[in-house]
Amino acid sequence: MLLPILQYPDPRLLQKAEPVTEVTPEIRELAADMVETMYARDGIGLAAPQVGVPLRLVVIDISGPDAREDLRILVNPRLTLSGASQECEEGCLSVNSYRAKVERREFARVEAQDLDGNMLSFDADGLLAVCAQHECDHLDGVLFIDHISRLKRQMLDRKLNKKASAK
Ligand code: NI
Repeated sequence: MLLPILQYPDPRLLQKAEPVTEVTPEIRELAADMVETMYARDGIGLAAPQVGVPLRLVVIDISGPDAREDLRILVNPRLTLSGASQECEEGCLSVNSYRAKVERREFARVEAQDLDGNMLSFDADGLLAVCAQHECDHLDGVLFIDHISRLKRQMLDRKLNKKASAK
């Protein structure tokens, strides 16, 4: 089932998400719906708070809309970051038609549970490391636009306010 994606500045995007205490059939269904929604929107990652569910659940597939062969479903993910900071252009399904350069760490060790409750871990670099940081930020109520300069953020907010008042 396709899920509606909350749009900034929806306050639910700014809440800290709670850990998943048990992988129930409802959680599995939510994960499947999140994957379907991510693919339908040509995204490479989606976090549960973006669909209005304040739980620590993330889906990622950086292989892109044509391949879709690197799906990772992460329950209660934790990151250990290392390496230098580097700039990478990002967008977000909750901040429509806006992209900006954001500083992220080069490497991320990802630890999480899978949908069977087993622990999983992997080392990420490149786009996967960036995406993992972006999605895990969502679980703490942080958006990529929280990392851009104050001036850029003011310009974005002004543009969105104008759009909202034109409705
Ligand atoms: Ni996002």
